[in-house]
Amino acid sequence: MSNMRLGLVGAGVIGQRHLLAIQKIPSVSIVGIADPSPLAVAVAAKFAVPLFEDTESLIDGEALDGLIVATPTESHYRSTITALNAGLAVLIEKPITATLAEAEEVIATSRNRGTQVLVGHHRRYYRFTEQAKEIIQSGAIGSLVCVSGQWNMRKHASYYEPDWRKRWKAGPVLTNLIHDFDLLRYLCGDIESVSAETSNVIQGFEKEDAAAIAMRFKAGSLGAFVLSDQSSSPWSWESGTGENRAVPASGENAFRFMGTEGSLEFPNLKVWRHQSLPYDWENMIEGEAVESKMTDAFVEQILHFSRVIQGLENPRTSAEDATMTLRSVLAVLKSARTGKRVHI
Ligand SMILES: NC(=O)c1ccc[n+]([C@@H]2O[C@H](COP(=O)([O-])OP(=O)(O)OC[C@H]3O[C@@H](n4cnc5c(N)ncnc54)[C@H](O)[C@@H]3O)[C@@H](O)[C@H]2O)c1
Repeated sequence: MSNMRLGLVGAGVIGQRHLLAIQKIPSVSIVGIADPSPLAVAVAAKFAVPLFEDTESLIDGEALDGLIVATPTESHYRSTITALNAGLAVLIEKPITATLAEAEEVIATSRNRGTQVLVGHHRRYYRFTEQAKEIIQSGAIGSLVCVSGQWNMRKHASYYEPDWRKRWKAGPVLTNLIHDFDLLRYLCGDIESVSAETSNVIQGFEKEDAAAIAMRFKAGSLGAFVLSDQSSSPWSWESGTGENRAVPASGENAFRFMGTEGSLEFPNLKVWRHQSLPYDWENMIEGEAVESKMTDAFVEQILHFSRVIQGLENPRTSAEDATMTLRSVLAVLKSARTGKRVHI
């Protein structure tokens, strides 16, 4: 298809990130935006596209091949169901929906209508993510034994001014950990169970400001993850990769994968191996950087969405897959609330 015509619902932070990505792709255009905010007027003017009040009028007003849903999470469900019922393929920002019941309905509607859903877990599109997957799954570091990861950043004070940002749905588990868990699932397979502690002693809001999680993967390996949106540290995905211009890059790694025959640091790939046999603690272990290239994951994701619409590829993160990621992070909150291990 020479020109793929997409609509965008929600022209906020991530909606504009999609607009910038699409500007770089000659074969794909945004032909209309739906957003009721007065702020969206300037965005639509900047990108020279018509602005609509809501999803329905955008779908009625323009001939579309697919729709990007980038509204606040609570509204994903409504716009997505409307688009699927109109026969459109949908790229939904993460998390797929705010609740599991809504996610199940998205899955059912997509199946019934025969329309595709792709969920915007964009980290899966980086070259270094594919390289990490190859290293782990090829056995280059032996059998995976343990994984450690963290996401530690202190968000700016004004971030918490709106009341909704103080609530649990806007907490770092549902907002940020969902990216890390999706990556872990992509690289290591499904998570079988989690045990977690959360705390809100720093800010005292309903949302957590820190979490510590122990997890067991179905394939048998174990993981530990700590996160906080109130800790000053260079260790998070965004600091490590520099993917978000608002977060200065530290170049530090946030994940470590430990296998029986070596280890991998990620996302700045470094493989650690003993230089000679046997692979044990008496033998020197050395790290070697693996060459990679920073790509624009949002551009890659749109190119993939365009191929999904054309029936050339299956969604890299299907509605079912993204629902498992949502299920996994909700299990963290449930475990912390109940004090029990939660099976997923
Ligand atoms: N992939 C990522 O890295 C990433 C990063 C940030 C946010 N997100 C996700 O993207 C979504 C949006 O987050 P954001 O930070 O861009 O939020 P935002 O508040 O910056 O933007 C949301 C936009 O949607 C508009 N909107 C609200 N309700 C609407 C409706 N019913 N119909 C049409 N437009 C509506 C608002 O006016 C606003 O312009 C969230 O689900 C979030 O989890 C993903």
